[in-house]
Amino acid sequence: MGFSPEQNAMPPEALLEWYVEMGADEAIGDAETNWFAASEAALAPVSRAENAPASAPPAAQAPSAAQVQRPVSAAPAQARPRALASGAEPATDKAASALAGAAQSLEELRGALESLEGFPLKVTATNLVFGEGVETPDVMFIGEAPGADEDRQGRPFVGASGRLLDRMMASIGLDRAENAYITNILPWRPPGNREPTAAEIAICQPFIRRHIALVRPRIIVPVGGTAAKALLDQRQGIMRLRGRRFEFADPDIELALPAVPLFHPAFLLRSAGQKALAWRDLLTIKQIIQ
Ligand code: URA
Repeated sequence: MGFSPEQNAMPPEALLEWYVEMGADEAIGDAETNWFAASEAALAPVSRAENAPASAPPAAQAPSAAQVQRPVSAAPAQARPRALASGAEPATDKAASALAGAAQSLEELRGALESLEGFPLKVTATNLVFGEGVETPDVMFIGEAPGADEDRQGRPFVGASGRLLDRMMASIGLDRAENAYITNILPWRPPGNREPTAAEIAICQPFIRRHIALVRPRIIVPVGGTAAKALLDQRQGIMRLRGRRFEFADPDIELALPAVPLFHPAFLLRSAGQKALAWRDLLTIKQIIQ
């Protein structure tokens, strides 16, 4: 990796820390690559890396009635009206905590999200993507944020990466219609699949924590680096976090839950060589459930 003049002036420990924060926590080659000399094309804005497979995602899968038994939060049939009142004050962590904390059921939590004001993603998204699966599941999978397919359908993980996630789950006997639950840190799609900002994640934290408390899974599986860092308060990237057993602790949950981060399926679609590691991590999850 090449250094900018500012980085050249940084003490080595600060530079290393900066790399880890940026997710560059693993050496992938012996020879240095000067990324600053990369072509203009490489510098063009890109969509959220983790969730945007290199190949164009196929058309979204149509939901079937059998697909989700006891859907805890059935998706809206069509787009909901855009909820953000113009001129609303920006949402605050405090307001989000109060709304989320008052929810005593998943339906109330959905209502709390719908009533959150001053959160711009609500304006740009088509649908709230709340979550789906069974009550008290073995495993609760938590991704980053909905993509285009999810935004259209109001359901989590229904595009290309969702189909891979379904297959990964099936390989260890999990199914969103039988014994699993799926949601995201952010329930609204960031425009153009960009990465969620730290401020957006902070506003959504009380909601996902309440969501976990209400769903009460036996284990949580953060899917991808953004979810793992947000839920486990870690700074390392997914390469370092995946497959390790953490404890997810929250005052709302009397028993702390085991948590095992997993590679994001969108990443696996681009990097099939990492599937062996993902398989190993799935077996760790299976072992914990058993
Ligand atoms: N990626 C995610 O993180 N979540 C989804 O629901 C879909 C794609």
